[in-house]
Amino acid sequence: MKKWMVLCLILVSAMGMMVSSQAGNTQMKTTMARGKLVYDRYCLTCHQADGGGVPRMNPPITNTEYVLGNKQRLIGIVLNGLNIPLEINGEEYENPMASHAFLKDGQIADVLTYIRNSFGNKASAVTVAEVKSARAKNK
Ligand code: HEC
Repeated sequence: MKKWMVLCLILVSAMGMMVSSQAGNTQMKTTMARGKLVYDRYCLTCHQADGGGVPRMNPPITNTEYVLGNKQRLIGIVLNGLNIPLEINGEEYENPMASHAFLKDGQIADVLTYIRNSFGNKASAVTVAEVKSARAKNK
């Protein structure tokens, strides 16, 4: 009798884990789909559909330390724009990028999660809370 109860418990918790990991996948898929919409509308013209950028004009966002590294710095680039000479993959970039602070916190979280997990990139998601806190520090 006790064995059965233990087995049942194991079964039930295994099913619970499967359901919650599926929910996580669905949530990530939705975030990625929303992020792509933001990317296509606000970033694609410069950074291109494949994230490869335009040599000497707009830097690639594939496998760069800015995209994959510190999330607060990355959020800061979207909020404040960027105007420093960059060298990425041996090419120099001097054009400034304008601020995109007009985007909502959710849109910034989505688009950054999207670019951190597209074009061959693989990094953790950016949350709305992280964008909120970056915005608060920026003020
Ligand atoms: C008008 C063109 C333009 C648009 C639109 C634009 N960027 Fe940029 N982006 C640039 C340029 C130019 C730089 C380099 C700035 C510098 O050298 O200071 C840059 C730099 C970056 C960087 C850091 C460098 C790198 O390559 O990793 C990231 C990340 C980035 N942009 C993401 C985005 C995201 C996300 C969006 C959309 C929300 C966006 N950009 C929209 C032109 C643009």
